[in-house]
Amino acid sequence: MTSELPGQIRPLERMDDLVALCARRGFIFPSSEIYGGINGFWDYGPLGVELKNNLKAAWWQEVVRERDDVEGIDSSIICHPRTWEASGHVEHFSDPMVDCRACKKRFRADQLADAGPCPSREGTSEHDWTEPRRFNLMLQTRIGASEDAAAVAYLRAETCQPIFNDFRRVREVARQQIPFGIAQIGKAFRNEINPRNFTFRSREFEQAELEFFCRETERDRWFDHWLGERLRFHRELGLGPDHLRTRPHAPEELAHYCKRAMDIEFRFPFGWQEIEGIHDRGDWDLSRHSEFSGKDLGVTDPETKEHYVPVVIETSVGIDRSCLALLCHAYREEALEGGEARTVLRLHPRLAPIKVAVLPLSKKLAEPARRLERELRRRWNAFYDDAGNIGRRYRRQDEVGTPFCVTYDFDSETDGRVTVRERDSMQQERIALDGVAAWLTDRLGPGA
Ligand code: GAP
Repeated sequence: MTSELPGQIRPLERMDDLVALCARRGFIFPSSEIYGGINGFWDYGPLGVELKNNLKAAWWQEVVRERDDVEGIDSSIICHPRTWEASGHVEHFSDPMVDCRACKKRFRADQLADAGPCPSREGTSEHDWTEPRRFNLMLQTRIGASEDAAAVAYLRAETCQPIFNDFRRVREVARQQIPFGIAQIGKAFRNEINPRNFTFRSREFEQAELEFFCRETERDRWFDHWLGERLRFHRELGLGPDHLRTRPHAPEELAHYCKRAMDIEFRFPFGWQEIEGIHDRGDWDLSRHSEFSGKDLGVTDPETKEHYVPVVIETSVGIDRSCLALLCHAYREEALEGGEARTVLRLHPRLAPIKVAVLPLSKKLAEPARRLERELRRRWNAFYDDAGNIGRRYRRQDEVGTPFCVTYDFDSETDGRVTVRERDSMQQERIALDGVAAWLTDRLGPGA
């Protein structure tokens, strides 16, 4: 950026820049890195886990806590294997796969454009594809010491199926009537044929799902309600209309259980891609689990005494995909005065891993600066840094999205004031030391 005009802004164009920042600053990096990584698996470092936790907390707050018609659960990752027969995953949850007979690489048959040239054939770069075969995406494991087929179990492919398993008990213990919802956040696993685009398509990822149970006659109203709520959520976290759109599924795209579906898509550097799906699942899940378990999962209308199976409106967002979208959107390189440049993550303060950094101008001021940091740390994730020149320390905080820095200098000793600096505008303000917590509360909320 050094040759560009001050004020010039460059958004993220190459994923590699973000991948490098995420590894360098400890947001996200390959799992088992010391062994060369493992394809489709990622670890979140000290800043990444804060970002992810903040996103999950925001979702939980809005979808579960602020509503009296939604209950939360945290189910086991491994369910009774019949669950996945009932859900249709054993039969249907597969992608078409082809192998190249020459280079032995394996690809999804619908993504051959990404395969690149074959490195192993003589006289041609064309691959020598096999016929497509179905490949089930569920990851299997075995339970207990037995090696026989009866011990096979699956790591859940989506977090919603245990919600259906638990529907009857949760409704009873929470004394909920239709309409109401059950939500959970947790890990899901898919043996993706070609994991790609950083964390976008992984083999282990987190989902935040809501299954909302309602009368059939109310399905469209609730579908529209939840679509509106979920769009509002993404917008409030900063994703603007030029980066967010909805896309209805054509009838031939609908999953086997789905009556109607709308994707919420984000414009990544690699194109528009789904980050969340809103689905009308009809009564497929509860009916199938009733059939396979032999337990009645229908409900009785308290007034008319009619017995019926509720229909389900689902909202399903990938936490990792959403984090990736937020990071892509927040990333920018800015040209500054004097030929300098900075990389900044303009994350919403609610999501920022570090809320405030305390930076003494000199190591000699460590004691009072540490005192301030300890006070702030009780309420927000605060960070202390006294190494290097102040400009460089600001840049380090900009690069990880810290919204506010507080600088304690030699004058602070006598005038009892400190300098606060705002990340996006880089504006600085001198405020009273004993007013820092109140100043931050106005901008960040009360904290932990
Ligand atoms: N219960 C419905 C369901 O799971 P889905 O469209 O398969 O629907 C929902 O997945 C969301 O989960 C997606 O919008 C995406 O954000 C996330 N997701 C799905 N597969 C993923 C993968 N392999 N890696 C990362 N996120 C994934």
